[in-house]
Order: sequence, then structure tokens, then C-alpha cells
Amino acid sequence: MMVLGFIGGTGPEGRGLALRFAMAGHRVLLGSREAERAREAVEKIAARRAGLDIAGVLNEQVAREAEWALVTVPYAAQRPTLEALRPLLAGKTVIDVVAPVVFENGVPRAVAVEEGSAAQQAQALLPDSQVVAAFQNVSAHDLLQPERPIDGDVIVCSDHPGPKAKVMALAEEIRGVRAVDGGALENARYVEDLTALLLNINRVYKGRSMVRITGI
Ligand SMILES: NC(=O)c1ccc[n+]([C@@H]2O[C@H](COP(=O)([O-])OP(=O)(O)OC[C@H]3O[C@@H](n4cnc5c(N)ncnc54)[C@H](OP(=O)(O)O)[C@@H]3O)[C@@H](O)[C@H]2O)c1
Repeated sequence: MMVLGFIGGTGPEGRGLALRFAMAGHRVLLGSREAERAREAVEKIAARRAGLDIAGVLNEQVAREAEWALVTVPYAAQRPTLEALRPLLAGKTVIDVVAPVVFENGVPRAVAVEEGSAAQQAQALLPDSQVVAAFQNVSAHDLLQPERPIDGDVIVCSDHPGPKAKVMALAEEIRGVRAVDGGALENARYVEDLTALLLNINRVYKGRSMVRITGI
């Protein structure tokens, strides 16, 4: 069992993944810029499932104490957030969940990222960390329902084979998830862009679409 920390863990995606990984038996540090918000987010999770090992802390404590850190801030916040935490994250596996999507008049659109993808930006900002891109296509709404299996694949991309394999195993601790090796980190751009497509599909079908890869 590991200590998993969330940088920007108070939003729906961070809380949803925190719930699932705590249910799998991991110790979770849920990070925020404000200690009070972190505590409130932990209470929200406890209202869904009691007795889990989740502590609400500042993002700095996550970066310092977590064995692996998951980044669940909005894309616009990723650069300043990771720049500030770079020394604390050195030597660690950093799982980037960020999908660079903006809503223009309610319509989700993928944002072009100079480095190629949010995950590549994270790796450029954190040269001494092992960045693994994962979970960008998994709906927070479903994650936050503890009884509900997740009907989707998690495509995992990284330039670090060892950490990638471990993150794939971690993803499969969420009931229903199959992890798919997406290859190098440069492929994370396709996974991130898919999130914008899925959000548009959700608007059409009033659903919560996810991805299943077939033929492998
Ligand atoms: N929501 C989904 O279903 C979903 C699905 C797949 C992927 N994702 C990706 O996962 C990430 C998190 O999604 P979300 O919906 O949970 O996001 P969110 O609620 O908009 O933000 C998550 C947390 O980030 C922190 N934050 C916000 N602005 C910040 C800033 N300027 N600087 C530093 N921290 C800031 C906030 O925490 P504090 O105020 O407590 O610091 C906030 O609670 C996003 O990149 C999104 O693309 C989301």
C-alpha cells in the first residue's frame, strides 16, 4: 500500500480518484492551497464512504510526503503549481490527470499546448520526476459513486517504463478499469484531446462517455 497524494485534490476529479484509491487500501493525502478547503473535501468524501484513510493537507505537504503525486488542477493552473513544487517532487512519480480543455459558451474545446500536451509540459517543468499521464478520460461523476464500477479503459503514457507499469497496475485497482499502455509520453496529447471529444459526446447524449480500446 502506498501514500498517494493529490495536488489540487479538492475538485471532483481529485476527490473521485482519492475515494477509489483509499477504497483500494492506500493512504491518501488530499491537497489544496487552503487547509480548510482540504478538510472540507475530505468530509465530502467521508459522506460517500466512511472509514477511509484520507487526510486533507496543503499541496506542499502532498509534494513532500506522498510517494506518488497526482496532479488534478485545471490546465491553466498546472504551470505555476508545478513550478512552485518542483524541488519537492524531484525523484517521484507524478501522475498527470490534467486535460487541457476550456469551455467556450458552454462548448468544451481542447487547448493547444506548446509542449505538445499537458503531460509533456509537466515533464518539462519537472525534469527530475517521472511523469506518467493517466485518468484524463475518466469521469469524476462516476468515480464519486463508490458502488459503481468504471466502464472504461485508462490509457497510460510515459517515457518511464517502470513507473508506467506501476501506474497501470494502480489504475486496475479501480473496479471495472482496464489499463492500456499508450506508449510514450508524447502520445498523451491524443488522450487529452479525447477528453474534449468525450465532453462533447456527453452533451449530445446527456451521458458520461468513456473510452474502450478494442482489438488488442
Ligand atoms: N472533472 C472531471 O470529470 C475530469 C475528468 C477527467 C480529467 N479531468 C481533469 O482533472 C483535472 C481536475 O478536474 P476538476 O474538475 O476536479 O477541476 P477543478 O474542480 O476545476 O479544480 C481542481 C482543484 O484545483 C485547484 N485549483 C483551481 N484553480 C487553481 C489555481 N489557479 N491554482 C492552483 N490550484 C487551483 C482547486 O483546489 P484548491 O482551491 O483547493 O486549491 C480546485 O479544487 C483537470 O485538469 C481536468 O481536466 C477532470
